[in-house]
Amino acid sequence: MKFKSLTTAAMFALSATMTLWSAPAAFAAGTDAQQIALGHKLYNAHCASCHRADGHGGVHFAHAVSADLQAPGLEHTYHENDALILRAILQARDEDGDRLDAPMPKWEGRLSQPQAEAIVAYLHTLHAHHGHAAKR
Ligand code: HEC
Repeated sequence: MKFKSLTTAAMFALSATMTLWSAPAAFAAGTDAQQIALGHKLYNAHCASCHRADGHGGVHFAHAVSADLQAPGLEHTYHENDALILRAILQARDEDGDRLDAPMPKWEGRLSQPQAEAIVAYLHTLHAHHGHAAKR
């Protein structure tokens, strides 16, 4: 009897704990979706003209071709390091710290850090599709 009531108490405590934990988790997921939506909007406004709507780049300029920003290529180039990707956007520096070629602008002053972070969150959702078996 004693054991059973303890178990009931434990279950009650567990479900109370789960209720407490599920609220912040749902909030965090909503925040991610909002951040990605914001990044998508900013990307369309500022980046798609050069990097194309799907992020695969390949637009030719006088001295450079716009980079492919789709995953996993960009993550690999920048060593899975969002701080380096942010620097590429805000400072126009490549993974080694060298200036990216024009016309890639330095976005610092035009995009805030949270705006650039939102764009990076969005870029992580752009996945390269290979061949004709591409899924949407
Ligand atoms: C005027 C055209 C132009 C615009 C606008 C532009 N880019 Fe670029 N971007 C380029 C070019 C060209 C390169 C390639 C530079 C190089 O090869 O050194 C590049 C490179 C990059 C790279 C480096 C990728 C790599 O593989 O090293 C990132 C990241 C990037 N752009 C992100 C962005 C984001 C995010 C935006 C919007 C906020 C943006 N760019 C807007 C032209 C542009």
